[in-house]
Amino acid sequence: MQNIRNFVITAHIDHGKSTLADRMLEITKTIEKRNMQAQFLDSMDLERERGITIKMTPVRMVYHLPTKNLELRTKNGDGTESPKSLVLSPKLSNSDEYVLNLIDTPGHSDFGYEVSRALAAVEGAILLVDATQGVQAQTLYNYEMAKRAGLTIIGAVNKVDVATPEQVEQAMEEISILLGIETNEILKVSGKTGEGVPELLVAVVERIPPPSPFPKGSTPAGGRDFESKSLTASGPLPLGKGEAARALIFDSQYDEHRGVIAYIRVFSGEFKLNTTYHMVATGAEVKTKDIGYLKPNLVPGQSIKNGETGYIATGIKDPGQVKIGDTISDVRAVTATDQLELALPGYREPRPVVFVSFYPEHPEDYDEFKKALAKLRLSDSAIRFEPDASEVLGRGFKGGFLGKLHFEIAAERLDREFDVPVVSSFPSVAYKVQMFSDKGRSHEKTDNLDPVDGENGWFWIKNPKDFPNDPLQVYEPMTRIEILTPMQYLGPILQLKDLYRISGVTTETIGAASSGRMLIKAALPLSDLIADFDDKLKSVSQGYGSLSYEVVGYEKGDVDKMEILVAETVVPGLTRILPKSEIEHEARATCAKLKDLLPKLQFKQAIQASHRGRVIARETIPAEAKELGNFGKNGGDRTRKMKLWKKQARGKERLEERGTQSAVRIPASVFKELLKK
Ligand code: GTP
Repeated sequence: MQNIRNFVITAHIDHGKSTLADRMLEITKTIEKRNMQAQFLDSMDLERERGITIKMTPVRMVYHLPTKNLELRTKNGDGTESPKSLVLSPKLSNSDEYVLNLIDTPGHSDFGYEVSRALAAVEGAILLVDATQGVQAQTLYNYEMAKRAGLTIIGAVNKVDVATPEQVEQAMEEISILLGIETNEILKVSGKTGEGVPELLVAVVERIPPPSPFPKGSTPAGGRDFESKSLTASGPLPLGKGEAARALIFDSQYDEHRGVIAYIRVFSGEFKLNTTYHMVATGAEVKTKDIGYLKPNLVPGQSIKNGETGYIATGIKDPGQVKIGDTISDVRAVTATDQLELALPGYREPRPVVFVSFYPEHPEDYDEFKKALAKLRLSDSAIRFEPDASEVLGRGFKGGFLGKLHFEIAAERLDREFDVPVVSSFPSVAYKVQMFSDKGRSHEKTDNLDPVDGENGWFWIKNPKDFPNDPLQVYEPMTRIEILTPMQYLGPILQLKDLYRISGVTTETIGAASSGRMLIKAALPLSDLIADFDDKLKSVSQGYGSLSYEVVGYEKGDVDKMEILVAETVVPGLTRILPKSEIEHEARATCAKLKDLLPKLQFKQAIQASHRGRVIARETIPAEAKELGNFGKNGGDRTRKMKLWKKQARGKERLEERGTQSAVRIPASVFKELLKK
């Protein structure tokens, strides 16, 4: 165990985690150079195209410390290289072999949950900062999570190949202030050229402690869960069960043949091939027919030892039996006390905060669509789905997501990986709504709604169409946001207050006062955040403002429902919950936008916005201009006539389509446009 190091690389989006990991894979010869492709650990097509990491990827590397004066070289001013001596700590011997278990983690706030799971499986973190960008909002967020998880943190500045010396200096100063360390403890690296990466690996071995027998402390790793009561209890150390083999399931994937493949971090004992184990929480039994390491492909072996990470093919076909955060052990938990004693400090359950209803674009694809969703869920355990039906859109599913990007990615994956194009409703948050009190009952239907646990008369409203016309009280989810920006954009960013319900703003400088960089902290309702807040922030700060957020709780909201009617019929997918003060303005703006966005038909169409049953805005889409042929006069020429008939027939087809379904099948692009402020 003394020669194992478990660590993550964590950074703001695009600061170069995956590229740095590539160099580590090369240096440790985990991947042959000829098989190397950029951002090796981002294996999904979508990850590569968008250049973002969506799923965490664990990888095991075998590493030998460099021999002095041999493998390390520095660039001289004239472009030549000279050997550099590296003084290893006397405790380390360069003949030793080390096992480095690295987890490459996603950077975006939506995936904070993924990061928190990775953090619970390691002892250390490399906090990587792009020298040309400096510390960003996600750097701060990830640092906080790593600190809360009790990790040893190594600061590193990346992209030194392109940054100016001043930029490198400034980034080092920012990191040193953030971590409370001297600048000479921060490493300078380039993931691109590989410069400084050997030193960084040495620092991993020197500074990060070997695995400890029990997970660090009892503080659950940072997450975005906002109801403290739902935290998994971090049970006491198992008295008398110290000998039990125990491992934490920190991620999983699904394989058609081998069922759920659980990624585990062993905290005591050893896990072996052909042995029976038990899930502590679900009670499921597992016979290990396949066990091994992640390199990052699954490489079968005989066992996974204490302190190591690896995989177990469980053979279980029902993903509900393998819960991420559960403990797997050779001892079977019979009583609740056994469970408490055996369970390793768990993670929080991922809690969806953004809700969207999906429908197959072609209703006859429903069965395909259902299968695709089930498969998607297997590779992304944070998604929640339940059946949902809409009179006009037909049968579909209501999905719960960790954020807007998470939802967008799911929709895109459904389309390209499973070939099922989908129509979706507006993304919405979950409101906590009081529908009735002791004094009176709501007249609305409540039988299809989820009641709020222990609070009589309160319901969760996740789909705007279920929002009552006359709620007694409404609570909405709030986020705490942090924005990091160069000083000159402070004014424009603060002006966003005119468009969004930003409150409780504080500002402070980051790093040295001369750095001219400001950190803005504020509160913002989640529903405002998932409208186009991030796009707007990017545009007013010319791309320099970076954002991180965390859902922190519920606050009373002064909001109400606005419905849209097209041709006198409510379009449920266009119903939105808005702050009361904005409803009139949004009603007019939405009708005007829809007038431009919806296609013209052969007859006039009325678009209306209504609030509490009263129409408050209206626009009319004029009829499609008719092409009046003048061939009637002289008998006309036949080809022109044919052309017109064809055109009319096409128009009729379109009309029929719209009449039956598409009058309310709003293309996804329309939702996006409507949300823009
Ligand atoms: P996310 O997964 O989206 O959070 O990004 P990441 O942190 O994994 O960043 P990634 O490795 O994908 O790198 C982002 C971009 O920076 C890519 O275009 C890389 O080629 C580039 N890049 C990464 N490291 C370096 C470096 O050291 N020098 C230079 N010049 N470019 C780099």
